[in-house]
Amino acid sequence: MKTVLVASSKGGVGKTTLSTNLAAHFAVAGRRTVLVDADRQGSARHWAEKRAAHAHAVLPVDGTRRDWDRRVPGDAQQVVIDAAAGAHGAELAHFLDVADAVVVPVLPSVIDLEATVPFLNTLARHARVKKGRLPVGLVGNRLRPWTSASQQSIATLEQWPYPLVAQLRDTQAYVLLAGLGRSLFDYHSAQVREHQDDWAPLLKWLRR
Ligand SMILES: Nc1ncnc2c1ncn2[C@@H]1O[C@H](COP(=O)(O)OP(=O)(O)OP(=O)(O)O)[C@@H](O)[C@H]1O
Ligand SMILES: [Mg+2]
Repeated sequence: MKTVLVASSKGGVGKTTLSTNLAAHFAVAGRRTVLVDADRQGSARHWAEKRAAHAHAVLPVDGTRRDWDRRVPGDAQQVVIDAAAGAHGAELAHFLDVADAVVVPVLPSVIDLEATVPFLNTLARHARVKKGRLPVGLVGNRLRPWTSASQQSIATLEQWPYPLVAQLRDTQAYVLLAGLGRSLFDYHSAQVREHQDDWAPLLKWLRR
């Protein structure tokens, strides 16, 4: 079983968007996938409930409960954890103890970059991150590559001590699909395939 934690102390950066699309990707690939929603808002759970009516369902688990791991079926092959905004340090410790990778989405603005630094510092203090046992990857999200804000943010992220493992563009596809319990990986049009390509380096990094 592989566990991916999607987390940032910053709100609205794309944690749920990344979590739901990753979970759907694994489910479409035929893996028994669990989506742990650690946010009381329940957005990831609601998405999974809508998805239950479609092919390639993922099982939602309430991650606000300390005993969340007991609700993950023993035969699950892939677990994706959608962390709550504002969670860091001690609140994330029980996820950091079991995760195989941490993915941190970052929006392309100075405010977002600055707000992410203290969060990355708390991650760096976790024993498994310190010992190199828990890899951390950054994902630039909602990028508009033709803008200088996006270009400068990417240049900054590339200087940070964790690898930039994907650059996801800003597209209404994510907004529309989220409301349907769907993901990019449920569609095959040429336009959607282009957006899927943004995910290839992240998926490769997770497989390593
Ligand atoms: N790449 C993208 N392009 C366009 N819209 C996006 C993208 N990523 C996320 N969004 C939209 O931005 C909003 C915030 O995203 P999301 O809910 O995934 O963030 P979050 O970090 O989970 O927020 P919260 O901290 O409230 O849990 C949502 O409306 C989502 O559809
Ligand atoms: Mg969320």
